[in-house]
Amino acid sequence: MHQNAAAAGPRQTPTLRDSYLTHLECGLCATPYDADRLQTTCPSDRRPLLARYALEKARTELDRDELSRRTAGMWRWGELLPVRDREHRISLGEGSTPLLPLLRLARSLGVTGLLGKDEGRNPTGSFKARGMSAAVSRALELGAVGLVAPSAGNAGAALAAYGTRAGLPVTVVMPSDAPLSARRQAERFGARLILVQGLISDAGARARQLSAEERSLDVSTLREPYRAEGKKTMGYELAEQLGWRLPEVVVYPAGGGTGIVGMWKAFEELQTLGWIGAARPRLVAVQSTGCAPLVRAFDSGDRFAQPFPDARTRAAGLRVPSAVGDFLILDAIRASGGCAIAVEDSEMDAARAEIASLEGLDVSLEAAATLAGYRRLLEDGLVEQDAETVLFLTGSGLLEG
Ligand SMILES: Cc1ncc(COP(=O)(O)O)c(C=O)c1O
Ligand SMILES: [Zn+2]
Repeated sequence: MHQNAAAAGPRQTPTLRDSYLTHLECGLCATPYDADRLQTTCPSDRRPLLARYALEKARTELDRDELSRRTAGMWRWGELLPVRDREHRISLGEGSTPLLPLLRLARSLGVTGLLGKDEGRNPTGSFKARGMSAAVSRALELGAVGLVAPSAGNAGAALAAYGTRAGLPVTVVMPSDAPLSARRQAERFGARLILVQGLISDAGARARQLSAEERSLDVSTLREPYRAEGKKTMGYELAEQLGWRLPEVVVYPAGGGTGIVGMWKAFEELQTLGWIGAARPRLVAVQSTGCAPLVRAFDSGDRFAQPFPDARTRAAGLRVPSAVGDFLILDAIRASGGCAIAVEDSEMDAARAEIASLEGLDVSLEAAATLAGYRRLLEDGLVEQDAETVLFLTGSGLLEG
């Protein structure tokens, strides 16, 4: 086992060993790493590390229905999450979001089986809460003394909330055009907010510099292993809510792509656990035409994406010109038989108004991109009208402005 970046040593020897976590593994070169110290990316290729669990053992000891009867929230899957001691779980009630039938929308589109996973119900108003709950809990457990992350907005607000609840100092670096609601939220939670000119990639460079200078843990998307673990619970819930099967299509608004990586991992884990079969949904990543690095790579058959020049879109969470987990996202989409597509901001605006007026759901622009993408798939004949499809409504409409 190799060691990697660290701050202080573990806060205490874990006592309650109820997590099946065994080790970390590089998503690219498969080198194993010690999971019980703070790690960032693989030192040899700087690519994401993924958490691995003793799933064969878990298969014989865990009962999916027993877990499902526990208190609502993502920590009901605690044995399959990375935190060893329950005392270290930092929770604000994230997860167990509703999977809503979108009947009026479906009728207007002439389709059946359209569902929306309403992630805007999460603490701080977005699915980023799941990832930060897992990452902050594990960082606390392993003795981190401070946390820093770049953010388009929502991840920073979530980090500030969970970091505060854990009693850890938080620094959030956002592009200066990040949504005001997220900036204000982060500040109210007591985070140090640093605004930089430029894009999330520029914020990322500044966060890495601060992390090195101040010995705080960099919890950038997929640059530490555990945000993806929180996000994977969306995949567990999907299976649970559909009676232990998966839908035919999942449409997801992709920036850094942690949700896709996490959910794809969840589906594999669920199958190894014997909780679902081999069928997988086709994964569709939706991006903006103004920032579509994954779509370009998908179309040109590349495994790695080139940074997207002059990235521009009003959907702040999709303004991500390059993603460190690009190959994991592209591998998952391809293995699932899905695709990556780009939509215009104007299509997101229209979709947002449609979801609100037909379904009573006020979602963020990124979330609305899923409907715009789905409409495009239908028009292009890439999805059948009766294919059961889940739109990931990743954030609340109340967040912007
Ligand atoms: C509401 C919303 N949806 C989608 C995304 C993109 O998420 P991911 O980085 O997991 O691709 C973000 C990221 O900021 C977001 O805030
Ligand atoms: Zn590696």
